[in-house]
Amino acid sequence: MYDQETILKEIRTKWAGKTVHFAKETDSTNEWAKRLSQEGAPHGTLAVAEFQSAGKGRLGRRWQAPEGSSVMMSLLLKPEFEPGYASMLTVVMGLSVAQAMQKTGIEVSIKWPNDVVMSRRKICGILTEMGLNGAKIREVVIGVGINVNLKEIPSELQDKATSLYLETGKTYDRIQILAQVLECFEENYETFIRTCSLSGMVEEYNKLLANRNQPVRILDPNQPWEGTALGINEQGELLVKDEQGTIQTVRAGEVSVRGLYSYV
Ligand code: BTN
Repeated sequence: MYDQETILKEIRTKWAGKTVHFAKETDSTNEWAKRLSQEGAPHGTLAVAEFQSAGKGRLGRRWQAPEGSSVMMSLLLKPEFEPGYASMLTVVMGLSVAQAMQKTGIEVSIKWPNDVVMSRRKICGILTEMGLNGAKIREVVIGVGINVNLKEIPSELQDKATSLYLETGKTYDRIQILAQVLECFEENYETFIRTCSLSGMVEEYNKLLANRNQPVRILDPNQPWEGTALGINEQGELLVKDEQGTIQTVRAGEVSVRGLYSYV
């Protein structure tokens, strides 16, 4: 059963997902988690839905998944650190999803900053949103969508997206995946807040980076350019060697990065 009780039973963490809200249908779990935050929900609250009528993707896009096929969840965080560090949490979650897949026996890689991919196509998208109270963080909501048992991908997305089922031919227990993600995230988050940097995770992240040592195109709106992706630094920026041999740092949110020959 995909329900609140079963989810709560499977999550073995100290605080991440210890309070679970489950709905057969909601607009967007990110929006729901923000509403829960306003009602005083604690750090680590998880909102899970079987179906989203207005699921949100990055850059104002929509995120659609048929009922019963995927993990759609949002984790509410109430961190004490300064707002400038919050964007790194998206990288922390990307790494956590990739680790959870590996623990499930599924080989994945990461497309910087946080898409988890198989066969150079996306199986997971992450949308992090932050609310402020003056200069302080009111909440951070990390929304995660994992294409688990999807049997079909809409034709317009077939070159960019795939699912665990389509890649492995197996169906997976969504609750086990969800619980693994939370366990990995909790551990990584605790490492992250010690330094407010990715210093404890850079090495593992870079090993999983699909673009590592690959030619990439940086879609800078002013001037796109090409180079070789080297890996991330402790701030989660992508280091790219340009055609002159200079190492440039690329910040997530400001530009997109594509492989020269495919989406990754
Ligand atoms: C992306 O564009 O790659 C990010 C997609 C994030 C989708 C998830 S599904 C659960 C959560 N609720 C939303 O409305 N979006 C995120």
